[in-house]
This record gives sequence, C-alpha cells and structure tokens, in this order.
Amino acid sequence: MRFGIIGTGKMGKEIEAAAAKRGHDVVWRLSSRENPSGSGITAERVSGADVVFEFTSPAAAVDNLMALAKEGARTICGTTGWGKDLPRVAEAFARGGGALVHAANFSIGVRHFFELAALGSRLYGAVGYAAYLVEEHHAEKRDAPSGTAREIAAIFEKEAGGRLPVTSVRAGTVPGTHRLVFESPEDEVEIIHRARGRAGFARGAVWAAERIAGRTGVYEFAELVKEVA
Ligand SMILES: NC(=O)c1ccc[n+]([C@@H]2O[C@H](COP(=O)([O-])OP(=O)(O)OC[C@H]3O[C@@H](n4cnc5c(N)ncnc54)[C@H](OP(=O)(O)O)[C@@H]3O)[C@@H](O)[C@H]2O)c1
Repeated sequence: MRFGIIGTGKMGKEIEAAAAKRGHDVVWRLSSRENPSGSGITAERVSGADVVFEFTSPAAAVDNLMALAKEGARTICGTTGWGKDLPRVAEAFARGGGALVHAANFSIGVRHFFELAALGSRLYGAVGYAAYLVEEHHAEKRDAPSGTAREIAAIFEKEAGGRLPVTSVRAGTVPGTHRLVFESPEDEVEIIHRARGRAGFARGAVWAAERIAGRTGVYEFAELVKEVA
C-alpha cells in the first residue's frame, strides 16, 4: 500500500519503520513547517496515498482531520487530546466519503488491557474496593491525563460507577505505563500495562491501515480489533 504520513516526530518515524517491515511504501510525509493549519493536505497528496497517518499534536489534529475529510482520505489518527471535536470530524468524514480510524492507543496489548480493566472494575467495584490509576509518560507528552487513562476512567465509570482518581507522571523517557489498582484494607490488586517502546503503537496503526482498505466511515480501533479477536 502507499502511505502518507502527517507528523514526522517520534510516532511518524515508528510508522515509517513499521510500514517498511510490512512491505508498504511511504510516498510522502508532512512536517509542521510544510503544513500550517492543514494547508499541506492537497487533493494531489491524498489521491497519491491509499492511507494517511495523522500523528501530530492536539492543537494541529482537527485542522488536519478536516482537510483529510474534505479530500475523502482513508485516515489513521493516533493524535490524542482532540476528542471533543470528534462529532464534527466524523460528520466531515461522512460528507467527504473517506474513512477514519481513531484511537488514543493503537497497541493491541492495551486493547486487551481495557477488557481486563472492565472485568476488574466489575468484580472489585461490586465488593467495595477503592480504585485508582497511575499513568506515566515521557516528559515531552503534552496532554495529561493520557487518552488511554481517560478511556480506562470511562470504562471504570461504566462498570463500577463513580469516578476513577487518575494521577499523571510526566518524566524522563517512559514510553507509557498504566497501573490500575484496586485496594481494600486487607489486600491490593494491580493490573499493569507497560509499553516497551513505540513499536507496538505503530504496528497496530499499520494493521488498522491494512484493515480499512476499501471501506468508508468512522471506526474506533477497538471495533476493528473486535472483528478478529
Ligand atoms: N494512538 C497511539 O497509539 C499513540 C501512541 C503514541 C503517541 N500518540 C500521540 O500521537 C501524537 C504524536 O506523538 P509523537 O510521540 O510522535 O509526538 P512528537 O514526537 O512530538 O511528534 C509530533 C510531530 O507532529 C508535528 N506537527 C505538529 N503540527 C503539525 C502539522 N500541522 N503538520 C504536520 N506535522 C505537525 C511536530 O512538528 P514540530 O515539532 O515542528 O511542532 C512533531 O514533529 C501525540 O498526540 C501523542 O499523544 C498516540
């Protein structure tokens, strides 16, 4: 497949490496300098790529997504922190006839962690354990709590009721750790996901790109994983 990549930072580079491993070609890439307010996303670029990856920053993502939607692009968006704009982005993709897969976390290991979080919230919530989440990421990560932490909090709220306290640590080079704890006066249970690097996110994003060939509409990554798991 032919890929375009918007955002040439850490994830852009990981996607390039993951794409090469699967035999795909990256035919263009856009940095922030070449793409103020999404202006580098032209009809020519979009038609030259089967799928476009958007991994930039919360401030840039919505302009990029609106431009991609207008051109009917098949898009994989991993940028976090723009969720409140999802309804208008989804509407734009429906109008433009393209496809969007979005997720705060493209790791398949994290998808399964969400299932464990739901089960833990149900079981321990029912017998009154107190729960909290600690998430740790590298010092450069701009949003806090992480999109993944927000998703775990939503799962907890749905399964156990009540608000999940979340603490964020931004330090060093941690790729991403989420530690969900259930505790009682007698004991403590922890469910931990520790990413070893960014390769797992990129592998999941490329897998999603392969799955949306020929499709239209807006999907959460979880929906695509459920089709096969
Ligand atoms: N969904 C997942 O699985 C997953 C996994 C990891 C990270 N993420 C998220 O993905 C995003 C990127 O992460 P990262 O680690 O790659 O961050 P990063 O290393 O800071 O890279 C972001 C890149 O986007 C560029 N950029 C900003 N605005 C742009 C624009 N309008 N057009 C093109 N490029 C633009 C930045 O350029 P400048 O430096 O010039 O501004 C930078 O090179 C973040 O939101 C992060 O939270 C998601």
